[in-house]
Amino acid sequence: MKQYRVGIIGATGMVGQRFITLLENHPWFHVSVLAASSRSAGKTYEEALGGRWQMTSPLPESIKSMVVLDAEKDREKIAESVDFVFCAVNLDKQKTRELEEAYALAECPVISNNSAHRGDPDVPMIIPEINPDHAAVIETQRKRLGTKRGFIAVKSNCSIQSYVPAITPLLDLGVTKVLACTYQAISGAGKTFRTWPEMVDNLIPFIGGEEGKSENEPMKVWGHIENGLVVNAVNPAITTQCLRVPVSDGHTAAVFLSMEKKISPEEIIARWENYSGEPQRLALPSAPKQFLHYFREDDRPQARLDRNLENGMAVSVGRLRADTQYDYKFVSLSHNTLRGAAGGGVLMAELLCAKGYMD
Ligand SMILES: NC(=O)c1ccc[n+]([C@@H]2O[C@H](COP(=O)([O-])OP(=O)(O)OC[C@H]3O[C@@H](n4cnc5c(N)ncnc54)[C@H](OP(=O)(O)O)[C@@H]3O)[C@@H](O)[C@H]2O)c1
Repeated sequence: MKQYRVGIIGATGMVGQRFITLLENHPWFHVSVLAASSRSAGKTYEEALGGRWQMTSPLPESIKSMVVLDAEKDREKIAESVDFVFCAVNLDKQKTRELEEAYALAECPVISNNSAHRGDPDVPMIIPEINPDHAAVIETQRKRLGTKRGFIAVKSNCSIQSYVPAITPLLDLGVTKVLACTYQAISGAGKTFRTWPEMVDNLIPFIGGEEGKSENEPMKVWGHIENGLVVNAVNPAITTQCLRVPVSDGHTAAVFLSMEKKISPEEIIARWENYSGEPQRLALPSAPKQFLHYFREDDRPQARLDRNLENGMAVSVGRLRADTQYDYKFVSLSHNTLRGAAGGGVLMAELLCAKGYMD
């Protein structure tokens, strides 16, 4: 397989650090540029971090002494020296849109973890096992931007990764309504217990903007392509509540759903266990062997025990049972900074490389 030079925009942040650990020994991708804000620019990565390294594995030696570039001022230089960039920045929506579009216009594909472009119908929001075909809208986007290589592809919000994968294999049964309550880890806010001590022994019943994303983004992922654009799905009806809980990593969802065609719990479990997609068929380097794991124990999945399943790229499901108001209820879990952020971004980039979009 061809080797690709990649840049990480927002390299000093929580998601950026995850990209660094995931790409350390990646067989296709080599990190050749680290970029962040002007606050970090010109410093070595270690200096720019200033004690912010939050990963459990040590900071790779090859990365420590790399000089961090300014994502805005050094854009042309960065775009010329890499094959594509991963982008995860803490900026307002308009500035993020401008930054990402500037890279795409400079013929540098952007794999984005930010929400700014998620609503654009010619920007694919890809969960590789679920909607790899949405990559087709990249051609429409390139026509709009007037680019040959440059485009933006986005990852969905981390919360939906915990329940959309488990609902997808049931969609052909006519899922009519879904209620999902998410219990989200503090790393989803870029925090640890050291940097957010108020979260110890606490629960906060509000995550700004999260419920809107959790209800709208699944409809794009489940949408179809018409005239080169993504047209959102209209069913099922989804309602959510998103809570911040004192867990370091791993978003859990308690899900209730109703469907037109009834099948038994064993048939649902079989659908989960047998579900696989393009990443498994193409044997992409970051693909879990099994996307959905069902636990039969009553007390699983648990964040601490199960979030790292298959390198944090698998989704765990458990507690499937009949409900009194809906047809079924279950609990599902995914690692929010691995499958839900950087790992999902790396897998999407692998898919787009395998399909020729980065050539
Ligand atoms: N954490 C998660 O689980 C998660 C999951 C999915 C998506 N996301 C999304 O990923 C993005 C980053 O999240 P995070 O948790 O990694 O945030 P974070 O820890 O606060 O890091 C933010 C990064 O953005 C950089 N930055 C700030 N202003 C910049 C500018 N003007 N130009 C270039 N870089 C700039 C920062 O650089 P400096 O160090 O120089 O300030 C830092 O590298 C957000 O959009 C977030 O919503 C996060």
